Amino acid sequence: MKILVKKGKFADFKTEALVLPHFEGETKLHGIAGELDRLCGGGIREMVKSGDFEGRLYQTAVVYIPGTGSARRIILVGLGKKKEFNREKLRGAFAKAAQRARDLKVKAIAVSVEAGEAGAALDVAEGVVTEAIVEGVTLGVYQFTPFKTLERENIRELRELTIVADREPALKAIRTAARNAEIIARAVYFARDIVSTPANELTPTMLARKAGEVFRKRNVRLKVLDVKQMQALGMNALLGVARGSDEPARFIIMEYQGAGKADKPVVLVGKGLTFDSGGICIKPPDKMDQMKSDMSGGAAVIGAMMAVSDLGLPVNVVGLVPATENLPGGRAYKPGDIFKSLSGRTIEVLNTDAEGRIILADALAYAGRYKPAAIVDVATLTGACVVALGEHVIGMMGTDEKLINLVRTAADTTGERAWELPLWEEYHELVKSDVADFKNAAGRGGGAITAAAFLSKFAGDYPWVHLDIAGPAWLEKDLPYIPKGASGVGVRLLVQFLRDWKMTP
Ligand code: BES
Ligand code: MN
Ligand code: ZN
Repeated sequence: MKILVKKGKFADFKTEALVLPHFEGETKLHGIAGELDRLCGGGIREMVKSGDFEGRLYQTAVVYIPGTGSARRIILVGLGKKKEFNREKLRGAFAKAAQRARDLKVKAIAVSVEAGEAGAALDVAEGVVTEAIVEGVTLGVYQFTPFKTLERENIRELRELTIVADREPALKAIRTAARNAEIIARAVYFARDIVSTPANELTPTMLARKAGEVFRKRNVRLKVLDVKQMQALGMNALLGVARGSDEPARFIIMEYQGAGKADKPVVLVGKGLTFDSGGICIKPPDKMDQMKSDMSGGAAVIGAMMAVSDLGLPVNVVGLVPATENLPGGRAYKPGDIFKSLSGRTIEVLNTDAEGRIILADALAYAGRYKPAAIVDVATLTGACVVALGEHVIGMMGTDEKLINLVRTAADTTGERAWELPLWEEYHELVKSDVADFKNAAGRGGGAITAAAFLSKFAGDYPWVHLDIAGPAWLEKDLPYIPKGASGVGVRLLVQFLRDWKMTP
């Protein structure tokens, strides 16, 4: 989608639809709302007065403007009650307005950052409102269509969003914010696309090749380790999981330098299972197709690296994505197998479906080579996390209070909400093995936490946070600005975290 910023009066802007947000219970139409009302001959006032449009959250209504001198129509969208309003609802409301426009086959809409006084209600600057609007609109109309060949002419697409404002310095702030939001939205689209792509079209090799395309023109150094190189390093945990598949594993390394050479980097690690069948401990066929999304953590990391370089953030960041399939082939790893991981520690396999933590063990150990200021891993790691927190929440665990708080703040800012689970001493007991150092599965109780306890053994003494995105990575139902399917969760959170990042001496 094209995103434009233009100088002018909103009511004078000629396009297919102007979006006007409106708070529930508000009867007066001030400022821009009043101007738009005059434009359509009092039509908005009548809509509101009659009760046909109350401004309930995400409610929409369309009012037409007679004549040809101005915009064709106004799409009203409810913001709900002012007291209950927040940034997340602002994103959702503009997503709903954009979806309504798309339903009407509208190709171009315009918005005003001041209209409806949403920014004033939140007490935030124009830039913040702009980012929320651009994110809401772009993310809300995402669709994944490359594999549809029938009736493609019926695919409706919103093509253009214009933000109209009439004065400096607001315009300057709006331009910057629109550009930033576009960069971030593009990264989320990329993540959603590769998560939606089926496993036959996205093997570890193809994932690495995609990363190659993405970073060829970006200020990011890409290295892809093949099986031989991983053998030489001793990444036996990752290679062990990969043995059940004919597709070779890959280890994707992305290095971005936005600060001084001596500055310790933040390392992001993303689980990259391009397909998880469960291996020898095979999963039931029901919903197994969803396991093409088991590389959502990896997608979030690649997407975040894209955005970080496009934003030119002043921080050093490394992205690591261990990528493999988990299949039950003739050479597949088996319960009882023991691997000597890159860290030197040994791992006893009790369940081949707990493969994510095994490949992450090697990736976390590799992260230690950078002597990082922080490590954040993102993974669709456990069904237990979905049982504990549901579909909408990221499970968060870690070893460093300050880092946890930074991640929590980014989660709250972006609406990609995270909830901390305890990582107490008792859980660490549960991952000790009788015959090796650690075991990869520890019974049903606290499954999300024992997985994190296992990971913690490989993160060294570096400040580390683990994000379990098994719930929100793939949605069964639409959310206001996340259509069902691949959500791209993690991209926005990681980027916000890095925007907020201050090197701690
Ligand atoms: N990729 C799955 C976790 C998952 C489940 C993600 C559902 C998204 C939706 C992971 O590899 C897995 O299978 N975990 C097992 C671990 C268990 C065997 C200890 C699980 O959660 O059942
Ligand atoms: Mn699994
Ligand atoms: Zn998995």
